[in-house]
Amino acid sequence: MARSKMLYDGKAKTLFEGPEPGTVIQYFKDDATAFNGEKHDVISGKGVLNNRISAHLMTKLEGIGVPTHFIRSINMREQLVRKVEIIPIELVMRNVAAGSLCKRLGVKEGTVLSRPLVEYYYKDDALGDPLVGHDHIYVMNWADPYELEEMTAMAWRVNDYLSGLFAGIGLRLVDFKLEFGRIWDEEGNLYIILADEMSPDNCRLWDAKTGEKMDKDRFRFGLGDLVEGYQYIAKKLGLIPESGIMHDGSIDEKLAETLGNIENDVATDRKLRSISKLKPRKV
Ligand SMILES: Nc1ncnc2c1ncn2[C@@H]1O[C@H](COP(=O)(O)OP(=O)(O)OP(=O)(O)O)[C@@H](O)[C@H]1O
Ligand SMILES: [Mg+2]
Repeated sequence: MARSKMLYDGKAKTLFEGPEPGTVIQYFKDDATAFNGEKHDVISGKGVLNNRISAHLMTKLEGIGVPTHFIRSINMREQLVRKVEIIPIELVMRNVAAGSLCKRLGVKEGTVLSRPLVEYYYKDDALGDPLVGHDHIYVMNWADPYELEEMTAMAWRVNDYLSGLFAGIGLRLVDFKLEFGRIWDEEGNLYIILADEMSPDNCRLWDAKTGEKMDKDRFRFGLGDLVEGYQYIAKKLGLIPESGIMHDGSIDEKLAETLGNIENDVATDRKLRSISKLKPRKV
């Protein structure tokens, strides 16, 4: 099949034009980057695992009424999603102190926060995705109060739901990053939906018993094999066989091929996409 037009080549994913208007194909690459692209590696298996995990978690979230961009899995590395206008804010929710929070405020890693903490970062690689407050967001017109409120409310639901889901399989959801996008219906009503990906690339997951880090920090800080961590998560979620999908350090393509369509049973059943209505934006 001929490749459709490439729309964006990112650090972890490539976007291609989708088969219908308003859709895009997300291709999950094996590239791993950290520290704003300073560290880079290609890790066989990463794209397939993130594609599977993201499709699964987005489907689960859709099932509790969080509107997402996910439409269906296409194959082991690709999924069809709704094309959105990305809101240039990365929303980070933290349950336990880690990463930049520790660096910035001197909090000890592993400190359980008195309640989940919501942070917003302006999505701009050249500026290193700086931390911003509500007022920056409104004054710079990155999002309006309705949008930010909607994003934040969704993030709380995502946090409660995924914290429970991961706790049930022996993993602690320490923190995660979300991206949201705008879509409009024929009447011009605006909807905010969850976009990008929900994978171990953008959340921290620690083993509840041992504290072992299973997420991208393995790569960032050389803590161990990245794919091993991601496979562990995928196995616990029941997405890949116990024996894993790797063979001699590379992905077992044959086996991985069979994983592509699993989630679509759920996606096909999904008749109603629960999207909350917002006031039309004044233009
Ligand atoms: N449904 C969607 N419609 C349009 N764009 C999307 C959608 N979901 C994600 N994106 C955007 O596509 C890109 C995905 O690529 P990737 O995550 O590899 O980018 P990146 O190199 O990390 O760059 P960025 O810093 O912009 O995230 C991101 O810019 C993301 O915001
Ligand atoms: Mg990204």
